[in-house]
Amino acid sequence: MSDQGQFDTLLRETRTFPVLPQFKAQSNVRDPAVYTQAERDPEAFWAEQARELTWSTPFTQVLDWTPPHVRWFYDGELNAATNTVDRWRVGPSKNRAAIIWEGEPGDRTVLTYDLLGREVDRAAHMLTRLGVKAGDRVTLYLPMVPELVIAMLAAAKIGAIHSVVFGGFSAQALRDRINDAGSEVVITADGGWRRGKTVPLKANTDEALIACPTIKAVVVVRRLGDHGPVSMNHGRDWWWHELMEQMPADPFPAVARNAEDVLFTLYTSGTTGKPKGIVHSTAGYLTGANTSCRTVFDLKLDDVYFCTADIGWVTGHTYVVYGPLSTGATVIMYEGAPDWPDRDRYWKIIERYGCTILYTAPTSIRTFMKWGPEYPGRCRLDSLRLLGTVGEPINPEAWMWYSEVIGHSRCPIVDTWWQTETGAAMIAPLPGLTALKPGSASLPVPGVSAQVLDGQGRPVDPGGAGYLVLTKPWPSMLRTIWGDDKRYQDTYWSRFPGKYFTGDGAHWDEDGYFWILGRVDDVINVSGHRIGTMEVESALVDDHRVAEAAVIGRQHDVKGQAISGFVSLKEGVESSPELVAALKQHVVDTIGAMARPEEIFFTAELPKTRSGKIMRRLLRDIAEGQALGDTTTLADPQVVESLKQQYEEREAD
Ligand code: WT7
Repeated sequence: MSDQGQFDTLLRETRTFPVLPQFKAQSNVRDPAVYTQAERDPEAFWAEQARELTWSTPFTQVLDWTPPHVRWFYDGELNAATNTVDRWRVGPSKNRAAIIWEGEPGDRTVLTYDLLGREVDRAAHMLTRLGVKAGDRVTLYLPMVPELVIAMLAAAKIGAIHSVVFGGFSAQALRDRINDAGSEVVITADGGWRRGKTVPLKANTDEALIACPTIKAVVVVRRLGDHGPVSMNHGRDWWWHELMEQMPADPFPAVARNAEDVLFTLYTSGTTGKPKGIVHSTAGYLTGANTSCRTVFDLKLDDVYFCTADIGWVTGHTYVVYGPLSTGATVIMYEGAPDWPDRDRYWKIIERYGCTILYTAPTSIRTFMKWGPEYPGRCRLDSLRLLGTVGEPINPEAWMWYSEVIGHSRCPIVDTWWQTETGAAMIAPLPGLTALKPGSASLPVPGVSAQVLDGQGRPVDPGGAGYLVLTKPWPSMLRTIWGDDKRYQDTYWSRFPGKYFTGDGAHWDEDGYFWILGRVDDVINVSGHRIGTMEVESALVDDHRVAEAAVIGRQHDVKGQAISGFVSLKEGVESSPELVAALKQHVVDTIGAMARPEEIFFTAELPKTRSGKIMRRLLRDIAEGQALGDTTTLADPQVVESLKQQYEEREAD
């Protein structure tokens, strides 16, 4: 059977799950007219959504679209901290829980909206005392502790731009991101907890700062105390708790920001060796985050919402911080690993706090499946009413397990397709309106328009596959790449002029449902994390023994994709287990543990086309031939291989 044939079989065998009537009866969005109205007049739809925010100067202008640059609500003014915290600090919501936090060792804190606001105000005073002003960049390199949210919102309150760097990134990756942003202040911690071990964040920061000329101050959150002694650099380093104690308890007046002012940058991998600083605006981003929480996640004031993503990724920005807090809901924030001290940690958390909505990644679900149903089986999960997934395509088997074992067949699943660049969910069901097909992210959300195009830029007919594009601007889209607008134009807008190219392949079925097939560019999706092949390759060739390296993503039954490295060595150098270990470690040191190659193959020469392009498809076949077991996931069906090949050939022209 052909590859396309296999995929067709999968589609034919797909069961459609109708909307659950009891869910619909209570859902925020029940009228299907929302789709047609938003399609008829997307600007009016988004303006109505944006009015859900609190504005210090209401906007009168909705959209200015000069492709590929966009401005939304651009004569309005607002502040992101006002919208996530201060607007809930008046009236009865003042004492509602904003953040229920649990540390990995078991320590717990609840911050009400008012208490969170008080901390944000103090931190805003602190940043101001350190000389941070509107428009300045502040880098945050922290574990999942409340101080991370407080620091983000404090930066937002004074109009500064935060740049969160995931705590799993290495010192060198941190350094590159600080230097690209030109940050003057970095906030870190003495360390964090992960599987009972400590992560040396301050030591990494010190190493990064050997070559970060713009940094003037380092603020250190004390998380580990005696478990993680650190050296403090006099005149540069400050303890967070000591500075905070000295700050006045006065409210900090929010700095009014223009709708289009930058709220944050967040680095993500692309097809070159250099990560891109994705730039998000204030009003448009908040509109996307807030709207999708109300519509896709059906978030209400009495929800207890648990998004398991780290805030170091966009999922955490939008669905731990800005989205849920802007709707006034309660979020659970957990510091550590799902299997610490035991494999039931998430389920214990859900039981303990009466969690109503769970949002996690397919790779985690596949891991839970492997661990077995006894872990969730030990806990009461009947508070759950809605489940979500993100990060990669979910294979139907994992979808069914999630639905049955976690959702007890009474929770809809929202499979949300989006990207760091899109700011918020773009293709996702509305759980009170959309019938579900396991493995499909379903339909574009109201106000968003997507298409699947062939190589010539023509929309494919229903039943076809091709390149996924978004055809109209949306409020939460990236505005540019920090310091590199040309790269912004080239990466997203040159392949199909006037349309936003996602980098993903997709299949479009007869009902208009989108099935995301995976990346068609040189980006690997490992456990829902985006890693550029070029970044790993340049780390490998750093080693003086390596002549040439190529890196590909191969199927992996838990991670979705795993990294395989192919290396040719210089004359006279022998391969050895030590060399493999050293190369893997060097990738960890340059990027972070998530980029560690699963395996490294040595080859006398890399297979290349006559024009000198590495034949990655061939390497992928080799690596997958070595892979153990059958991987019948949807994550990277063969159909994407043919798209990828066409894409690569065209790029090589
Ligand atoms: C890439 C974006 C924004 C969420 C976290 C990842 C893949 C994301 C899905 C999904 C299939 C998905 C795509 C996309 N992806 N969600 N529901 N189904 N694929 O953010 O690091 O910016 O990566 O993740 O390939 O392009 P990111």
